[in-house]
Amino acid sequence: MYSIIYRSIANDSFSLSDIYDMLSKARERNFKQNITGCLLYHENGFLQLLEGERKDVLSLYDKISEDNRHHSVELILEEKQEYRLFKDWSMAFFEFEAFESKAEMKLMQIDQIFKQSKSHLVNTSLTKTFFDQARSMLL
Ligand SMILES: Cc1cc2nc3c(=O)[nH]c(=O)nc-3n(C[C@H](O)[C@H](O)[C@H](O)COP(=O)(O)O)c2cc1C
Repeated sequence: MYSIIYRSIANDSFSLSDIYDMLSKARERNFKQNITGCLLYHENGFLQLLEGERKDVLSLYDKISEDNRHHSVELILEEKQEYRLFKDWSMAFFEFEAFESKAEMKLMQIDQIFKQSKSHLVNTSLTKTFFDQARSMLL
């Protein structure tokens, strides 16, 4: 099992409905490849965690980093793992309300994601990095 976390910035032309289209295809492919994870979207920023067999995760990351619907793709962490954090999700997706949403609301949402994942069962640099990055993206 191998996991990576990266962040990127959506191109202006990549609308929310395009993102949902991309997601439904991505979920089918991820399901077939036994890739799981979580994608967060906020004010044009993406944060994604991908987990699966090392070769599958890395080859997907190669494709994603060449995808011209986003840019400034930056790998934050890659690590061998014992467990999946999002084992029941071919790609969990959370879109955060932009400016008007209060910080406490966003933190509550992050807490929900934390509870829906297996993160409470493991305490690794992966969980810490993912949720630290999520908080700094939102606040
Ligand atoms: C932010 C972002 C996240 C993506 N996540 C996935 C994903 O989890 N799984 C997937 O198969 N494709 C994902 N894609 C789409 C891939 O970049 C690529 O279009 C897709 O794998 C099809 O590649 P292919 O046509 O070369 O096979 C994502 C794209 C973006 C911009």
